[in-house]
Amino acid sequence: MKAIVTGGSRGIGLEISNMLAAKGFDVHVLSRTRIESLPTKTVSWIADIADYEQTLDVVKQIGPVDVLINNAGQMNTKTARDYRLEEIHHSLNVNLINAVRLSVHLAEQMAANGGGRIVSLGSIAGQIGHPDIWYGISKAGLANAMRSLARTFGAHGVIANTVAPGPVETDMMKNAPEERKARLKAVTINQRFCTAAEVARTVCWLATDAPAYINGEVFDMNNGSNYR
Ligand SMILES: NC(=O)c1ccc[n+]([C@@H]2O[C@H](COP(=O)([O-])OP(=O)(O)OC[C@H]3O[C@@H](n4cnc5c(N)ncnc54)[C@H](OP(=O)(O)O)[C@@H]3O)[C@@H](O)[C@H]2O)c1
Repeated sequence: MKAIVTGGSRGIGLEISNMLAAKGFDVHVLSRTRIESLPTKTVSWIADIADYEQTLDVVKQIGPVDVLINNAGQMNTKTARDYRLEEIHHSLNVNLINAVRLSVHLAEQMAANGGGRIVSLGSIAGQIGHPDIWYGISKAGLANAMRSLARTFGAHGVIANTVAPGPVETDMMKNAPEERKARLKAVTINQRFCTAAEVARTVCWLATDAPAYINGEVFDMNNGSNYR
């Protein structure tokens, strides 16, 4: 069994890569920096998801896979008014457009080979009107894209779901203002952020053991801070 994890060099993606490798997958990690100490059964590839041609070239070298995890993501501290047009394009390319293009490419391949699973990292940001407007728009769009893929390729064995966590203890949250972090923790049931391992366990379940009937779904993980 073979898996691609985008953005698996640290944070949630690294946890997912390690868990899939422990389950026996050959794991191919795509990121802009190489993983320093490589776990067994893992190959680290340099690919910037903002550059779709470079990413596709790497994916073609890897060959057909059973699992794709769309995990690479970037959040900015900019307000809507501060965003320049090229920054909007960059955010959308990394967080949405190229993740969807890659998913379509691999879903077609999976369908031709009898099936496969795609799990995307969405976010609570896709539901709440996030301060990083383009990040929130991307995450909402990505969840919708997984639904579209489930409908298009589901009859051919492709399962595509989204995990949408609230704040997670990783580098991404490190630079958030302390006041905002305290406010976000206060509205959870257990007054804490999610861990990368908790998200990775959910993602890996959807990528492996979850019933095939679960398709096109969005799994919220926000500990009561935003029930819907
Ligand atoms: N942390 C949170 O609070 C939270 C909450 C909800 C959802 N999420 C989502 O979960 C995913 C992982 O987040 P995280 O917290 O683990 O973030 P992180 O600690 O900042 O790690 C981001 C990962 O994505 C990679 N990456 C970023 N831009 C990339 C690009 N252009 N091309 C290739 N790889 C790229 C990074 O590797 P390189 O720098 O080496 O490229 C890194 O491995 C993201 O999609 C994020 O939006 C996070």
